[in-house]
Amino acid sequence: MIGIFDSGIGGLTVVRAIMDELPGYDMIYFGDTARTPYGSKSEKTVIDYSLENTEFLVRQGAKMIVMACNTASSLATEALRADFHLPIFEVITPAVVRALKETKKASIGVIGTRATIASGIYEKKIKAQNPDARVYSAACPLLVPLVEEGWLKKPETRMIVKKYLLPLKTRQIDTLILGCTHYPLLKPIIQHKIGARVRVISSSTAVAEQIRIFLAGSPDFDRTLSKNGQAEFFVSDITPQFEKTAGTVIRHPIALKQVRL
Ligand code: DGL
Repeated sequence: MIGIFDSGIGGLTVVRAIMDELPGYDMIYFGDTARTPYGSKSEKTVIDYSLENTEFLVRQGAKMIVMACNTASSLATEALRADFHLPIFEVITPAVVRALKETKKASIGVIGTRATIASGIYEKKIKAQNPDARVYSAACPLLVPLVEEGWLKKPETRMIVKKYLLPLKTRQIDTLILGCTHYPLLKPIIQHKIGARVRVISSSTAVAEQIRIFLAGSPDFDRTLSKNGQAEFFVSDITPQFEKTAGTVIRHPIALKQVRL
């Protein structure tokens, strides 16, 4: 079973992407909806929450972990890898690799939560591979609550996205990384506001592709993963709105189960 967690329901964009890349693999998801957002919390808190989430998924039988959250990936990857000896995937490296492949002018924009942008992790990873790259980042703290609320097409959401993207637009980036797993749900608005010529890269589909490549190269490990096409979805708080948005992301209705860690 593949274990996947996020601070809320944005990580379901990663579940959807894994379903598309690796149909039939069993998955267990935990969305920490009671404690979302992580993006405005301290590093210590994000690490503690990420360790608890991983413990829960491992107790349920997860054989590998996907941190379907850029904030947790930025701050807690080392701590998780130190404590759990199973494959742990973060979403940042795959997005960086894909962005560097796609960019023509090495002029890359990154949007994410406050914590992800403040960590500077995207810039560090991009510059490690291409020191000449220009990286422009913008924190977009209002977008996660808008997505969790299901405001995916509202005029207010369009207005806020436009305001956040304006500084990146004036820099004439040619590639934009969606450095938050909630943002693919706003991709049509983001693409429209940043302009059709900018390549928009989703960390969600990028990590799913990397997992497929990893499993293809690790057949012994791959055999340990169950493949009955089953997926279970746990959250730490349920509201009817979460269930509705979750169904929109997965593209069919899903039942969320509540669990307290
Ligand atoms: N989906 C999480 C991310 O990728 C959102 C973080 C948050 O809860 O603020 O960063």
